[in-house]
Amino acid sequence: MGENPLAIAIALHLLCAVIWIGGMFFAILVLRPAAESLELDQRVTLWAGVLGRFFVWVWGAVLLLPVTGYWMVWRGFGGLDGVGLHVHIMQGLGWSMIGLFAWVFCGPFRHMRRMHRQLLIPEAGLYILRIRIVVILNLVLGLLLVLTAAAGRYW
Ligand code: HEM
Repeated sequence: MGENPLAIAIALHLLCAVIWIGGMFFAILVLRPAAESLELDQRVTLWAGVLGRFFVWVWGAVLLLPVTGYWMVWRGFGGLDGVGLHVHIMQGLGWSMIGLFAWVFCGPFRHMRRMHRQLLIPEAGLYILRIRIVVILNLVLGLLLVLTAAAGRYW
């Protein structure tokens, strides 16, 4: 089969990582401070629209990252015994991030959308705060993951 499937796997893997982590970076460090000056109801409407769109992409990334990752592990490195420590760390951090995202989507994000639809704006704002804390945590984990994943092969 040659090496092409591995090239496709790492390319997709990296695209997903860039979209997910870059999106969190933009949301937390760029959009959030810029949106601070808006009134609460506008801010909640903005975040409901932003997160509703972004999380569709994150679901794609969250499904493709393990699929392409384990594809590389099994097809390229002969299983988990054949991979370096950096891939084990990536797995641990990766599943933690995926778990946190799934929780934030199914819990705070869905509540926030329902509150927003019912025009319970302050309540929706509280859920946005909760989402933000988890996204900050996931951003930190994601940046650590990229550092280990990229530097790990030279250890
Ligand atoms: C959950 C299971 C995961 C597995 C099994 C996995 C597996 C792998 C493997 C085998 C490589 C190639 C490593 C090498 O060539 O030395 C890799 C690279 C990479 N992975 Fe993952 N990965 C996973 C999750 C993630 C997640 C969640 C992210 C980011 C959000 C991520 C980001 C990266 C990056 C940035 C690289 C490039 C590092 C390089 O070029 O050496 N991975 N991954």
